[in-house]
Amino acid sequence: MTLTSPDIKSLTRQNFPANFVFGVATSSFQIEGAVHEDGRGDSIWDTFCREPGRIRDGSDGDVACDHYHRLEQDLDLIASLGVDAYRFSVAWPRIQPTGTGAANEAGLAFYERLVDGLNRRGVAAHLTLYHWDLPQALQDQGGWTNRQTASHFAEYARIVGERLGHKVRSIATLNEPWCASILSYEIGEHAPGWHDRPAALSAAHHLLLGHGLAMRELRALKLPADLGTVLNLGPAYPATPADEAAAHVADGRFNRWFLDPLFKGEYPQDIWDGYGADVPTLEAGDFEIIRAPIDFLGVNYYTRSYIAASGEPPAGAVNTDMGWEVFPQGLSDLLIRLHADYPLPPIFITENGAAYPDAPGAGGEVHDPERVKYFDLHLRAVLTATEAGVDVRGYFAWSLMDNFEWAYGYSKRFGLVYVDYATQERTLKDSAKWYQALSKS
Ligand code: FCB
Repeated sequence: MTLTSPDIKSLTRQNFPANFVFGVATSSFQIEGAVHEDGRGDSIWDTFCREPGRIRDGSDGDVACDHYHRLEQDLDLIASLGVDAYRFSVAWPRIQPTGTGAANEAGLAFYERLVDGLNRRGVAAHLTLYHWDLPQALQDQGGWTNRQTASHFAEYARIVGERLGHKVRSIATLNEPWCASILSYEIGEHAPGWHDRPAALSAAHHLLLGHGLAMRELRALKLPADLGTVLNLGPAYPATPADEAAAHVADGRFNRWFLDPLFKGEYPQDIWDGYGADVPTLEAGDFEIIRAPIDFLGVNYYTRSYIAASGEPPAGAVNTDMGWEVFPQGLSDLLIRLHADYPLPPIFITENGAAYPDAPGAGGEVHDPERVKYFDLHLRAVLTATEAGVDVRGYFAWSLMDNFEWAYGYSKRFGLVYVDYATQERTLKDSAKWYQALSKS
């Protein structure tokens, strides 16, 4: 680490702290397919996809990237990028088809092949336990609004920890509890598609509780793996001084509602008061469970929120194909603020990336200069934060390959690698080659 980030012409590993991890990320439902194979049970996303109008292009996860059947070739692909690490998630309904009871050996065996295959190739395995594919049988009992789901999750964590915990570098309990609660139970955009704020806040509480209970189970196993969790975070910027109060509330609902329980053992009082009668039911001891020390915090960052009563977008904003503003400064601001406000463990950027409407050119290559630019600017934002003293240990590009982008189906492409869904052919986009050069530098 020598130059300050704006002075660096072309990023290389030398610009980053020693042993900084470069990785790529995916999640189970978005890539695996094979939803009815080897004993996998239905997840809430299988159900959600069957409901008319939920997925923009009417698609589902039945085949996705067919990763389940192309495991070895996809592991070769990851290794070919020269990355240090791969972040993937385990599908709970492959391990416990109905969310409780005996483990399904075929499910465990699949992830063991995955992890062994990574280790053989010298790629560190970073496992996420819950990236939203809740067993449908648990949803039938209320899903995350049912406090029991947190205990079931801890049991599932123990099963996976026992089998794989000594072979992986890290285990994250949850991916983005804001999405799994608010976006899913209040905004209705994700499975199970409810519009019920009290239910969403109860789901959020039980997700946090499930995280804490899972941490207990995993700690008891005395694994060599680092244990932590993953939040999606983004700063809220007021457009004018008159928007400051609203920006503070937006920040509280999106960021502090999850950070404060984890690191302070309480909900933010201003937001709690603002939610009035919608707040969740707490039980004595919940926060002691939730605030159990974690070895790392995963931060997923895509964009900021811009709070303007006028509804005006920020001047000069450039958006990705998701309509999300490209705002790398939000990442450095976020990291520096987290470092100032919370007793943080080491941080990994567990997701960061951009969707663009990629298409192969005449020669079959996929040119995606905007994505290269996006990664470059955000990696520089990480450097700005590390130079300011924030302990960021690694960065995972979202995503290894184009995949099922939830309510957008296959219409949004986030991959470093282009996927032709008709043939399942994988093609390195220019961004993959760029990331490969950085990884191998
Ligand atoms: C995140 C999700 C991930 C992917 C990206 C674009 O919220 O964790 O699965 O969909 O957004």
